[in-house]
Amino acid sequence: MSAEKFYRPLVHFTPPYGWLNDPNGLVYKDGEYHLCYQYHPHDSVWGPMHWGHAVSRDLLSWTHLPIALAPDAKGVCFSGTALVDKGDKSGLFDGQDGLLAYYTITADNVPFNQSQGLAYSSDNGRHWTKYAGNPVIANPGIEDFRDPKVFWHEQTQAWIMLATAGQQIAIYRSTDAKNWQFSSFFGEDRGAHDERAWECPDLFEIGIAGSKETRWVLVIGVQRGAYARGSGTQYFVGQFDGERFIDENTPETVLWLDYGRDFYATQTWSDMPAADGRRVEISWMSNWLYANQVPTQSWRSSMTMPQELTLKATPDGLRLCHAFIRELEGLYQNPVSAADKTQTTPGAVFDFDWSQAQRLQFSLELKDNSSLVLQPFSELRFTFAVHKGQLTLRCQRHGQIGVTEFDEHFPHDFTVALGHNRCINADLVLDRSSAELLLDGGRYAITNLVFPKEGPAQQCSAALVSGEAIIRDLHRHDLAKVTA
Ligand code: FRU
Repeated sequence: MSAEKFYRPLVHFTPPYGWLNDPNGLVYKDGEYHLCYQYHPHDSVWGPMHWGHAVSRDLLSWTHLPIALAPDAKGVCFSGTALVDKGDKSGLFDGQDGLLAYYTITADNVPFNQSQGLAYSSDNGRHWTKYAGNPVIANPGIEDFRDPKVFWHEQTQAWIMLATAGQQIAIYRSTDAKNWQFSSFFGEDRGAHDERAWECPDLFEIGIAGSKETRWVLVIGVQRGAYARGSGTQYFVGQFDGERFIDENTPETVLWLDYGRDFYATQTWSDMPAADGRRVEISWMSNWLYANQVPTQSWRSSMTMPQELTLKATPDGLRLCHAFIRELEGLYQNPVSAADKTQTTPGAVFDFDWSQAQRLQFSLELKDNSSLVLQPFSELRFTFAVHKGQLTLRCQRHGQIGVTEFDEHFPHDFTVALGHNRCINADLVLDRSSAELLLDGGRYAITNLVFPKEGPAQQCSAALVSGEAIIRDLHRHDLAKVTA
């Protein structure tokens, strides 16, 4: 099998051909999850942006549909959102429920060229009509003005739009989906910034696990200044009154949704069925530092595994926690469990071959002054270490060993502080060219691409380097190929 073929993931969403970046227009309606995405159908590098489109009933097996939005004389179609207009408040759907999509119209070669456009569909996304009065929000004199996220705010009976406005977020309101009034800006002096604009906001209300209270969570992409360098996703926790988002942490607090290199442009699905109640996100599994250079040719980039987000009270404050969607269990094959094991001498703790996609779960207890290496690919190594009662994780990724690096930014080496030493669980999804690691009930997420030189056959091993480790509750499953 050619490396190019081998790298196409088995259980993650990829475009049939061409380039993919951000997830767009995530909405659930009539039993279908819609996934649109930034798409260049004519080449596998970024170019004139379209919205590719696929639907799924389980968030794993996707049916590709025709392109939802294509460039026109007004410009190309940058990122945005979709939602259900329940009860036809917009008047666009003859009294029925319909789908609204908001996207950024980016015009060619003029200053302040980004504005927000509306498109709508009355046949569950099979055909989209661009609103004749576009743009619905003209550019207000801000160079980076894009990535509209729209939702219905029940409490104040209005639609809310968030859009990137340079290094902050602009918040708007509307009662007819077409005319929008500016409410406020958020964020200039908050969280992580770099020299570029913030990107791809999302805002949602979420319950605090085990309590009746809720909070509003604002998710934002940082293109170059993320935790592991390059692109990454941060979030804020606070309140939203329909006009203003109030961050409840100090201005310098930075909360990372994922600590790895390849988790960007996060968006959550709108209009999940009430009986479900989950907040499910998906992210682009790449990084603008090298996205255009990764070693695939006919297609480029995939989405992450969809994950359910919950808000939990931790000793550090309220934090978003991740869990792979439960639908993933439907792909399980060849279950393997291992007896609990205490390891007191350096050497292998477990070791197995894998070739396509798999999920590995276990819990790990390390004694003080101990360290253990978990190595799912020869090019990716996680070192857990305990020193003076503090647990850390070092993550080292190589490029393609032995061949010229495709990009100098790809290899990396960073450490995440995991706090006081304790027994923590690990949940690892490996696909042909990616590793998504959730630790400590999903409190920490680390997502990385890997392009193994050796091809499909890999070894996943754990070895004690020093001290003592106890591994409990180890379960491993192969994941079956997803077919639409
Ligand atoms: C984020 C982003 C968005 C923009 C889109 C263009 O990855 O830069 O801000 O809308 O990609 O493809």
